[in-house]
Amino acid sequence: MEHDMKDSPDLEHVRLTVNGTLFERDVEPRRHLGDFLRHDLQLTGTHIGCEHGVCGACTVIVNDVAVRSCLMFAGQADGATVQTVEGLAEPGGQLHPIQRAFWNRHGLQCGFCTPGMMMTLTALLSENPHTDETEIRDAISGNICRCTGYETIVDAALDAARALRGEA
Ligand code: FES
Ligand code: FES
Repeated sequence: MEHDMKDSPDLEHVRLTVNGTLFERDVEPRRHLGDFLRHDLQLTGTHIGCEHGVCGACTVIVNDVAVRSCLMFAGQADGATVQTVEGLAEPGGQLHPIQRAFWNRHGLQCGFCTPGMMMTLTALLSENPHTDETEIRDAISGNICRCTGYETIVDAALDAARALRGEA
């Protein structure tokens, strides 16, 4: 018999801000943040790959820190401020510097890794826009890309860093 979540006594009430909007939902305790974003909030830009913390595709920013949303329960994000790839561009559609740089440098092919890459790099660049290639490669060492060979992603991150420093 199908389980009716609405009748479950075990749901947790979660209240969090995602991309500037406050959301409240009742969720199963084992619902991870990635599934919560995709299925409960319909924010499907966050991709789910391995579901055990290895591929980095599910990376989002929680309280200014890049986290793997498959490794965090939605309930653990109660009260948090979350940014997903949908929150990078300006409301008017102007691309974030990391998005523009990926576009210019062809930093994606199939695009599956791209949201996670961008969120990992956005967290890094927010913390340190004076970052360098070594730090960038280290930051994305947990983000797997099967298409690009990483060179164009690193080039894009360096371009975005320059843009954020006002040098481009
Ligand atoms: S889906 Fe989360 S790290 Fe792979
Ligand atoms: S662009 Fe295809 S996995 Fe990275």
